[in-house]
Amino acid sequence: MEAEKKNDEFEPGAAQFGNFINYYEFNPPKNRLALFEGKFCEYFSSHRPLLCLDVGCNTGELTKGLYKMLSSGQSDVRMMGVDLDAQLVQRANEAISNELESRLQFHTLNVVSEAEERDQLLSRYLETQGSGRKRFDIAFCFSTTMWVHLNHGDAGLESLLACLATWADNVVVEPQPWKCYRNATRRLRRAHRPPFPLFDSLVYRSNVLDHIDDVFRNRMDMELQEHLGHSEWQRPVLWYRHKPTANLAI
Ligand SMILES: C[S@@+](CC[C@H](N)C(=O)[O-])C[C@H]1O[C@@H](n2cnc3c(N)ncnc32)[C@H](O)[C@@H]1O
Repeated sequence: MEAEKKNDEFEPGAAQFGNFINYYEFNPPKNRLALFEGKFCEYFSSHRPLLCLDVGCNTGELTKGLYKMLSSGQSDVRMMGVDLDAQLVQRANEAISNELESRLQFHTLNVVSEAEERDQLLSRYLETQGSGRKRFDIAFCFSTTMWVHLNHGDAGLESLLACLATWADNVVVEPQPWKCYRNATRRLRRAHRPPFPLFDSLVYRSNVLDHIDDVFRNRMDMELQEHLGHSEWQRPVLWYRHKPTANLAI
């Protein structure tokens, strides 16, 4: 209950795309990083290099935390964060120390509406960092599905999920449940901003978590490897993996 109360008290103003400038003051990375201790890092400890993508990286604090956590299990981790907000990405890049520069990078990208740029950026990254590998080992996507859904509709949400599943062998996703949509809508209203234009057209609503699970399992041929737990804000953190027989063509 305390966590829900905190979530309701999260009032940093309205941000149409979830591009909150001070997000980590409200939602520090440590709570979510704690869900990965132990088995998750061990599972990836023999992947070299371990190639990771973080979609909707904001100012990169959680991305950096994941990078450090995974690096403690093995020495060669490379990670790219992408976010549609250029100002947040600039902050993320400014905060990288020289020591991390060659292994951690951030780029401005709308993963849904800039599909061509996205595919070029990701393949170039894999060519240079992963010696031509076709996919990332892990794609992370925390607290971003709702923003894509609200701004790009049901088709946009499905395109995000397909992007994650196509570009990575494993996907870790923290989707927002429907009650967060109502909070986001209320914040826009309080800030006297226009409502999300696609809100009324959304077909997937209180069943959005089931729909996300259905897309990964039935359309993208993945399986749920592990439910890693719930974050402080009561959002599930789910680890999906391609079935060993899945035939993936990019
Ligand atoms: C609420 S923040 C979550 C940040 C981070 N993933 C975390 O959980 O700590 C959502 C982020 O997703 C980004 N975002 C929203 N829609 C996006 C899109 N279509 N492409 C890329 N980034 C997007 C926003 O700019 C924002 O920084």
